[in-house]
Amino acid sequence: MAGTVIGILGSPLPEGNTAILLQQALKGAADAGCTTETISVNTLDFQPCMEMMFCREHETCIMDDDMQQAYLKIRDADSIIVATPVMTMGIPGRLKSFIDRCQVFFMAKYVRNQPLVAPEKKKVRRGLFICISGMKIPEVFVGAKLTAKAFFDIIDCPFHDELLISDMDTIHDIRTRKDLLDAAYAKGKALGEALGK
Ligand SMILES: Cc1cc2nc3c(=O)[nH]c(=O)nc-3n(C[C@H](O)[C@H](O)[C@H](O)COP(=O)(O)O)c2cc1C
Repeated sequence: MAGTVIGILGSPLPEGNTAILLQQALKGAADAGCTTETISVNTLDFQPCMEMMFCREHETCIMDDDMQQAYLKIRDADSIIVATPVMTMGIPGRLKSFIDRCQVFFMAKYVRNQPLVAPEKKKVRRGLFICISGMKIPEVFVGAKLTAKAFFDIIDCPFHDELLISDMDTIHDIRTRKDLLDAAYAKGKALGEALGK
């Protein structure tokens, strides 16, 4: 096995267009020899960050919820794909809360100088960002990209590549666009192949 690739789904729709693109990317990674898993943030039981700052001194959050398991998966993944729709010119609130709760990685890395991700893992792992939007305007991905890149930085998963698809209001059903499905598959496969090297 080349490694484990985790897909983080930010859309609330388990069979929506974002989910289909993520499935394609994970299929590509699987075909490159990786084990794959999806974290669907909408199915997790967790609260937003309450700024209790427990993670300033400890390797986890004081809030005992589904994020505890997610932290371990994020820490141990060999690469990570974040797939999300644009909502209100950013990312969906629940995905943002998920990312905010990853402050445990921020504190460990930037405040205590003891990153949770092992240096040898950081060297190999990479982040792929998949994002779709209803509208087709130049700045539509700006907010989502800033957040995604900050997330990849915080969790020591260097940004590798992106697939940004606008104009979903016209496309409607991503399954009608084989070129876009193929693009997601190819980017997932490249991510997986990079791990095998
Ligand atoms: C609450 C909400 C807010 C949205 N805000 C934006 C937006 O600001 N800009 C945009 O281009 N599309 C926006 N969209 C459209 C979605 O990005 C688009 O429909 C996307 O294809 C949804 O993907 P999904 O069906 O996989 O969740 C919004 C959709 C919802 C439900």
